[in-house]
Amino acid sequence: MTEGKPLRWGLLGTGGIAAAFAGDLGRTTSGVPFAVGSRSQGTADAFADRFDIPHRHSSYEALVSDPDVDVVYVATPHPFHYENTLQALHAGKPVLVEKAFTMNATEARELIAAARAARLFLMEAMWTRFLPHIAEVRRLIGDGVLGEIVMVMADNGKVFDRDATSRIFAPELGGGALLDMGVYNVAFASMVLGTPTRVAAMISPAFTGVDGVTSTVLGYPSGAQAVLTCTTSASTPTAAVIAGTDARIEIDPVYFTPTSFTLVKRNREETRYQPEAQGRLRYEADEVARCLEVGLLESPYMPLDETVAIMETMDEILSHNAKN
Ligand SMILES: NC(=O)c1ccc[n+]([C@@H]2O[C@H](COP(=O)([O-])OP(=O)(O)OC[C@H]3O[C@@H](n4cnc5c(N)ncnc54)[C@H](OP(=O)(O)O)[C@@H]3O)[C@@H](O)[C@H]2O)c1
Repeated sequence: MTEGKPLRWGLLGTGGIAAAFAGDLGRTTSGVPFAVGSRSQGTADAFADRFDIPHRHSSYEALVSDPDVDVVYVATPHPFHYENTLQALHAGKPVLVEKAFTMNATEARELIAAARAARLFLMEAMWTRFLPHIAEVRRLIGDGVLGEIVMVMADNGKVFDRDATSRIFAPELGGGALLDMGVYNVAFASMVLGTPTRVAAMISPAFTGVDGVTSTVLGYPSGAQAVLTCTTSASTPTAAVIAGTDARIEIDPVYFTPTSFTLVKRNREETRYQPEAQGRLRYEADEVARCLEVGLLESPYMPLDETVAIMETMDEILSHNAKN
């Protein structure tokens, strides 16, 4: 990376989120979409033309080997994150990896060990962490405004077309509500309450057998609980609440995207918070640029050990798929 210059991003994959990321880089000066890699040259060219990307590669290997790429963004379906991230690390590149970070905690631990051994930056693209309203929520919690936190509630449900070949439903593409949608809830609970010591879950499978309706209760040593719900077959409120002994925060839908929230004190006094946000993925891109600039190998806001803990919780939840 050249000091003081925008980070030159290499986008690995050309799907929906890669396009959103490339578009959002247009909202920041911290980085530019510099290279793209696809399994086919035609797709790489079409994507590069759309976002004015100078380097276009017909393989992921060629992308990660591009000497002018400063950092790689892995934007393939989750079963490929492990292999694609290792490819990038082996080529000596820092990596931002889409959520869900991997398919399970074992893969996550291995990637993190590889990054640490190579002294390369690695981060889960849990972009919600870096949004302005979440920064404000963290500040209020840190200031003790909520008192002792007793409950977290978070929900994410959307109706997807019943397509067995789609990334959402196909087992071989990492299908399932939890890894795609519930991961936001698990990461949110983790941010507020840390790592749970108890996990209870109930899963109703979707028509392909992957988890389709997934409800979870997480328990913490303090006695606090998190109640998390997700589904791929209904449009649910997509709101979140953090309730403490002195006050609660109600985050408006869609709670994990840029939005507003209300602080409700125990005496019912309400304060509205509506922080400005420009784009959604550019904030995580800015964090990667900041970390690389100051030589951090991981972000203090999305630490790698927490990513492993999130994957461990999701492993435990998904182990209930056969049992319910
Ligand atoms: N942060 C967010 O808000 C957000 C939103 C959606 C998704 N995501 C995450 O981002 C990842 C990608 O999601 P997406 O919605 O962008 O997926 P998508 O639209 O299906 O695109 C995935 C891309 O991965 C590449 N790919 C490599 N092997 C593939 C295979 N066997 N089948 C299909 N595609 C393959 C393809 O690029 P080439 O053909 O060019 O190789 C494809 O365009 C997932 O892990 C997902 O959870 C994050």
